[in-house]
Amino acid sequence: MIDQTWRFDGRVLGHEDAHDDDLDTLRQDIEVRLAQLLDGGRADLPSLAMRAGTLGAGKRMRPLLLMLVARDLGCDAPGLVDVACAVEMVHAASLILDDMPCMDDARLRRGRPAIHVEYGEDVAILAAVALLSRAFCILGSAHGIPADVRSRLVCTLGETVGAQGLVRGQFLDLHGGARSAGDIAVTNELKTGVLLGAAVDMAATVAQAGEATAQSLRAFALAAGQAFQIRDDFQDGPGNDSAVTGKDTGKDVGKATFVNTLGADEARRRLLAHLLEAERHLQDAVGARQGTRRFVRALFGKALAPAPALELGARPRADAAGVHARA
Ligand code: IPE
Ligand code: IPE
Ligand code: MG
Ligand code: MG
Ligand code: MG
Repeated sequence: MIDQTWRFDGRVLGHEDAHDDDLDTLRQDIEVRLAQLLDGGRADLPSLAMRAGTLGAGKRMRPLLLMLVARDLGCDAPGLVDVACAVEMVHAASLILDDMPCMDDARLRRGRPAIHVEYGEDVAILAAVALLSRAFCILGSAHGIPADVRSRLVCTLGETVGAQGLVRGQFLDLHGGARSAGDIAVTNELKTGVLLGAAVDMAATVAQAGEATAQSLRAFALAAGQAFQIRDDFQDGPGNDSAVTGKDTGKDVGKATFVNTLGADEARRRLLAHLLEAERHLQDAVGARQGTRRFVRALFGKALAPAPALELGARPRADAAGVHARA
């Protein structure tokens, strides 16, 4: 049950007070299909680690976004759930690698031991590589989606994971050093925003949306990605409980996040400005359709409602909409 009034700058952005059965059904479809797609009937350690890394208690934000955006565009193609699962597998692989000792050195993920803690570093790396491979195979063979569309999906996801996408984002995050706000925004876009961007791009591709709609959706996802990474950075700080977040806290100490660099108030102002920007782009893309909008509001409303800054009258800084590393 969601019961939040979501305000900023004097505007009531949303009030959610209904249980979203539709969302529960979609989430359930994704869970069931993920389990099927990762059930190769094998119990070797890399296969077990792939399943553990993917089927744990994640929010499924990326596959849900993909499916909700496609629906808002009027598309309910049967192969969509496979496309959505492929995106979640890429995300799961990125989390396995992100937790490793040579990266963030985290021990808890989704309320369970991180994959390298439970299965060893060698198996964790192999499971991440295998998840990426599985994701591309699934896209290549998604049923009911024409071959030319599938090949575009493969390219989109390949670019997103690659040297100028998640890989670069993770590298900058680990090696960026003391950085400007612009640099942090670029890192956040690459390590987090681009996979959200890929999810909505892929929805637009399957739905055969026009170029203007696809661009608005990408701008929506990048803005939402900036907001999401700031929200995530808040969860790393003092006062958060691993029992609630399901992952270690204190991993960002000494890192150039917005929260650490600009302070909590400015980080929160930026987060809210990005959410407003995301709302605007979503409106341009899907008009009055509510599926994606309700999901995003619920996701962020839940996390932000207790914070007094939600009621602040202060205007966000003009530059708070963020820097987009890729057009
Ligand atoms: C965590 O993503 C990594 C970031 C990009 C911040 P999520 O917060 O979506 O993780 P799960 O999938 O719910 O575990
Ligand atoms: C995540 O950033 C980016 C990834 C692509 C995994 P974080 O390192 O902040 O994510 P968490 O906090 O470990 O989930
Ligand atoms: Mg990290
Ligand atoms: Mg991490
Ligand atoms: Mg984090």
